[in-house]
Amino acid sequence: MHAQNPPAHERPAGRPTSPSSPSPSGPRVSSGASVPSTASGPARPVSFAPRAVPLSPTLAVNEALARKRREGVRVLPLGFGEAGIPIHPALTRELASASGRGGYGPVAGSAALRAAAAGYWARRGLPTDPSTVVCGPGSKPLLFALLMAIGGDVVVAAPSWVSYAAQAPLAGVRPIRVATPPGEGGVPSPALLADAVVRARAAGRTVRAVIVTLPDNPTGTLASEETVRRLCAAARDLDLVIVSDEIYRDLVHDRGRAVPSPARYAPERTVVTTALSKSLAAGGWRLGVARLPEGPFGAALRAAVLGIASEVWSSAPAPVQHAAAYAFAEPPELVEHVDRSRRLHAAVCRAVAGRFAAAGARVPAPQGAFYVYPDLGPLRDALRRGHGVNTSVELSELLLERYGVGVLPGSSFGEPPVALRLRVAPSLLYGETDEQRLAALASPDPASLPWIAGGLDRLSEVLADLRESARAGQAALA
Ligand SMILES: Cc1ncc(COP(=O)(O)O)c(C=O)c1O
Repeated sequence: MHAQNPPAHERPAGRPTSPSSPSPSGPRVSSGASVPSTASGPARPVSFAPRAVPLSPTLAVNEALARKRREGVRVLPLGFGEAGIPIHPALTRELASASGRGGYGPVAGSAALRAAAAGYWARRGLPTDPSTVVCGPGSKPLLFALLMAIGGDVVVAAPSWVSYAAQAPLAGVRPIRVATPPGEGGVPSPALLADAVVRARAAGRTVRAVIVTLPDNPTGTLASEETVRRLCAAARDLDLVIVSDEIYRDLVHDRGRAVPSPARYAPERTVVTTALSKSLAAGGWRLGVARLPEGPFGAALRAAVLGIASEVWSSAPAPVQHAAAYAFAEPPELVEHVDRSRRLHAAVCRAVAGRFAAAGARVPAPQGAFYVYPDLGPLRDALRRGHGVNTSVELSELLLERYGVGVLPGSSFGEPPVALRLRVAPSLLYGETDEQRLAALASPDPASLPWIAGGLDRLSEVLADLRESARAGQAALA
């Protein structure tokens, strides 16, 4: 029968006609496993490996910590970039009120959502025509669709959020890493951009885009207006599209400090993306929005993104779109919630940065989002001698395995492996229950709440032990 014994032209070279009589020259299939029989004959194990796509490191560290917890190890979860605050009841109310809505709706998103997102941007100095807004199930898939639609290699900052460089090859393009100016994460140095792009083009590559993150994950810093202006001028000279990921825009710690969006300085070539998942803590609610440029290029890009969206996700879920339209209209209760979360992130990030600095690390002062980015370079000799640690991966493995502390190595963000930088995300310290998290949100001094102070003290203890045991040649604490 065909299903059991395909004709030779349908068989890969060397493949035996039956798995029960493998030819010695045939491809290797898994050995030893018993092959179950099915209604259509004996099952034949697949002989090839699927394309290897590693799990995003942010999700992987979460799983590693869950494993440690199951083993009964005391863990300090500082790896996963989750807002760590409860979802506001107004959002759950709006979601529930729309939960009966089925149907796919327009690929670009509902008219109500696009109008609300346009209003959100207009209030931030970016007048927006709702027809230029495209929504998707999270900003991550929108960024992926943008990379695919723009269709050329992309410059990303070093360091930068893990998924830009990881998505690029999946979208059929390649990332080009360009270092940020000192102390200004999220933006490839304008001074180095031209050189990198010209060299890549001379080598035959098609370079079409640059991604910026304002404020930045992983460094928790915000690039200056001057740097963004220079980046925009360079992008114009080089004819690059700018993708400005502003998902942390509403979480700049200093409320008086404006986010310098490239959409102000190079509107004809800037796409802005944002989502509910960070400022409103609605992480699992897959909903993001993109603001595309006006004009012929923007219209063509929109058509391409919608084409990809139509083939991959069709539309974002209608009930979540409804709740998002409510959120982007910024009713006072949500504005206050975001404001409180901003203060909480600022206070705890400051405290964590202080603990690392006290242990001898170099730490940029956190300015936005909920990340701290210490450099343990000053402890390099002690770490090498006492722990055999030479790279950020070895350092994060040591912290995880010996102390149950989950952080991400700087190399995940495109840093050289030997740079001893770590991304620390303190937001899971805000509490284990909603009650604790709400108390943290309401507190004028959240770092002094017992459960947060306990986490901070454990961090200091671990960092002190890391240094002490490095001197003594072994860890005292476990
Ligand atoms: C910089 C940045 N951009 C985009 C995203 C994606 O968020 P979402 O897909 O939830 O919109 C994240 C999530 O961690 C992020 O840190």
